[in-house]
Amino acid sequence: MKNLRMERVKRDHLSKRGMIIVSSSMWQLKTNCKHMKRLFSFFCVMAFAVVLGLATVGSVYAKQPTANKDVKKIVASMTLKEKAQLVIGTGMYFELPDSILAKMPQGFGGDVDPNDPEYSEMVKSIRKYVPGAAGNSSRFEKLGVTTQVLADGPAGLRIQPKRKAVEQTYYCTAFPIATNLASTWDTELVYSVGKAMGNEVLEYGADVLLAPGMNIQRDPLCGRNFEYYSEDPLVTGKMAAAMVKGIQSNGVGTSIKHFAANNSETNRMSVNTIVSERALREIYLRGFEIAVKEAQPWTVMSSYNKINGVYTSESHDLLTKILRDDWKFEGYVMTDWGGGSDVVAQMNAGNDMIQPGKSEQIYGLIKAVEEDRLDVKVLDKNVERILNIMLLSPKYKGYAYTSKPDLKAHAQVTRQAAADGMVLLENKVNALPLAKSIKTVAAFGNTSYDFISGGTGSGDVNEAYTVSLIDGLANGGYTTMGELKEIYSTYAKEAIAKQGPSKNPFAFLGGKDPIAEMAVSKELASKMAQKTDVALITIGRNSGEGRDRDPIEGDFYLLPTEKVMIQNVTEVFHAVGKKAIVVLNIGGAVETASWKNIPDAVLLAWQPGQEGGNSVVDVLSGKVNPSGKLAVSFPIKYEDAPTAKTFPGHAIEGQVGNEDDLSGFSFMRRTPWEVIYDEDVYVGYRYYNTFNVPVSYEFGYGLSYTNFEISNLKLSSSTFNKLINVSVDVKNTGKGAGREVVQVYLSAPTKKIQKPEEALVNFGKTKLLNPGESQTLTFEIDARDLSSFDEATSSWVAEAGKYTVKVGNSSIKIAQKADFSLEKEVVVETVSKALVPTQAFNRLTQK
Ligand code: BGC
Repeated sequence: MKNLRMERVKRDHLSKRGMIIVSSSMWQLKTNCKHMKRLFSFFCVMAFAVVLGLATVGSVYAKQPTANKDVKKIVASMTLKEKAQLVIGTGMYFELPDSILAKMPQGFGGDVDPNDPEYSEMVKSIRKYVPGAAGNSSRFEKLGVTTQVLADGPAGLRIQPKRKAVEQTYYCTAFPIATNLASTWDTELVYSVGKAMGNEVLEYGADVLLAPGMNIQRDPLCGRNFEYYSEDPLVTGKMAAAMVKGIQSNGVGTSIKHFAANNSETNRMSVNTIVSERALREIYLRGFEIAVKEAQPWTVMSSYNKINGVYTSESHDLLTKILRDDWKFEGYVMTDWGGGSDVVAQMNAGNDMIQPGKSEQIYGLIKAVEEDRLDVKVLDKNVERILNIMLLSPKYKGYAYTSKPDLKAHAQVTRQAAADGMVLLENKVNALPLAKSIKTVAAFGNTSYDFISGGTGSGDVNEAYTVSLIDGLANGGYTTMGELKEIYSTYAKEAIAKQGPSKNPFAFLGGKDPIAEMAVSKELASKMAQKTDVALITIGRNSGEGRDRDPIEGDFYLLPTEKVMIQNVTEVFHAVGKKAIVVLNIGGAVETASWKNIPDAVLLAWQPGQEGGNSVVDVLSGKVNPSGKLAVSFPIKYEDAPTAKTFPGHAIEGQVGNEDDLSGFSFMRRTPWEVIYDEDVYVGYRYYNTFNVPVSYEFGYGLSYTNFEISNLKLSSSTFNKLINVSVDVKNTGKGAGREVVQVYLSAPTKKIQKPEEALVNFGKTKLLNPGESQTLTFEIDARDLSSFDEATSSWVAEAGKYTVKVGNSSIKIAQKADFSLEKEVVVETVSKALVPTQAFNRLTQK
């Protein structure tokens, strides 16, 4: 029996599963705002050159000062107030209709300083650069300090699409959600998505994209899972690194977020994540470590939560010892919007910029320096880090942005990426691809008509259009039923009119709630079965920040209306010899075990961005052979998840919340709340596979229209010495061309440290292989892949003994195995002792 920390936990006190909804995001709005002055004047750059005695060159770029030396000069010439004004953001900018403003919680909105007209003018002026951007940093023209425009988010740039008195529109491309991208297992493709996304950041005049989101999908119910890649840290880290490189190849920055262990939305402003050092290092920090080391993002966004009792934005352990000392991060750290509560602690921790910021924080900081509660040298360092990144930014370089990115070209990028990340879950008797004889389609399910391109909150892009499933079908040459469309549209209108108050914490900012599914009678279904060749049934789900997926019925679980729809439609179509196919338009795992065998095929389309309908039809029609694999497990029932008993946490006994605590620019309550990660490192497949808990679909799973054979596994050596090279052959043994994902797992000896049955150490994807064609894929396994985190010594240790390499196309479907041995234990790396859990952790886990 595996000796799990989680098994030592008394779970009874964790059984409360109250989903307390807390509202706290500061994301921006689709509203009109003042006319934007498009280009930051070249004069600012010229002024900087004059100040520094440098000549400018005759291009769109001013001549660059040498980095650190000149930054130090700027810092030396700044007043204390200017330094404080730089590290504190300039507030959020809302120009909302009065009707919405009246509903806004107090404290939510922009900030200027009534006591400092010059600063206030500057703030008002920089807000006009990119309306709808989530934040800005201060500009000081006389110092040559340019603003940095910071804008969301992970599925594409989120800015205001329309500006007052301007005819031009500023729509951005809604790319597939992160979970969809991760399911491609294709880092090159993710790089190309990042490149297109970053181009919109550049051409719309922003400097830093607040993306990618890269928290671990610890539990199926986290409301923001759609913004994150995977339950696995390697997939997360590799995807994020590719995305960062792609975005930053444009000369704009990224902010990897939310650092760290921010895996639920319930009480997100105050939740204390109680977690072991090992689970942090191996699971929750590992992805960030990969992204930092491989891609050097310009910035990191600390998260809202605490880790082991300390807000992440106030944690010196996290932001200095781990991020900078251990990983050598070179950029700056910003808070999440309103995160943490003590600006002095944040500066000391290495959280260089406070967003969105308010003027009282500026004065608080000045006072702290004057009263010797904050060493000005610390502040200088924070300022220096922000300025170092400024030197790289388009605004500083005077880039002449066009506000006209090539949206048509980017639409093609998202269309292909989304299709490549769709996962074929079921395909009985080759129901898919649709036979050439199929011409007419009956589309059931509300979301067939109102397709969901992405989740809600700051990760929601203001795109010009979303191709619905029925539009995609029409574009693909299929005929859909006008009559059925009419029925759905009448139903939707009535359902919207009857809808009760929204549960979305940001409902006051607009946006719509999904409507309940329409009941499909057998009569309606059989009428359609007479007239069409095939049935598509779409099941849709949406979620977003500030709220976890609740209630579970109708979100993780399908409602009876939905199951009956699948049952009725399939039955009557089968009765006339026709097929029924389910399309899942969702952002995170749902229950599938109870109904997946009813229809003929199930395609997991995720929330695939603005070209969604086209991407789905590309797969249904066979234009694209599905090659996506799950980057997250689909449990049979929610209770099977190792986190089900602890998610999303519980109130802290004996502590009372301060309802008035609006510290850190926020309107939310900080209810005392904690969540205990008692499953430790056994997250996702690491748990299911180790404890033989069956799942509906395992991590790494996904079908294709063809078949592949993985063979000829070779290791470069049977004893480990620094590196082992692995190679395998992949052959397309089926009928159509296709691509296969090859996954390399490793089982390690467990004499000293208990370990999961296996963990992913590498992966790759073939090129498009024609029937009969083969490709050899090669992988490396290095010492770090062999190691586990040893809390006693704060080091990564590879134990001596036998290791098994398992290669396959899912975490369960292992095609080939081979062993190698490590003769002597290796201490691969020793890192800082950091984020040690408090006594509470030991008490709660009975350590
Ligand atoms: C979200 C961040 C986002 C920020 C700015 C916060 O509420 O958690 O992900 O980048 O707002 O909009």
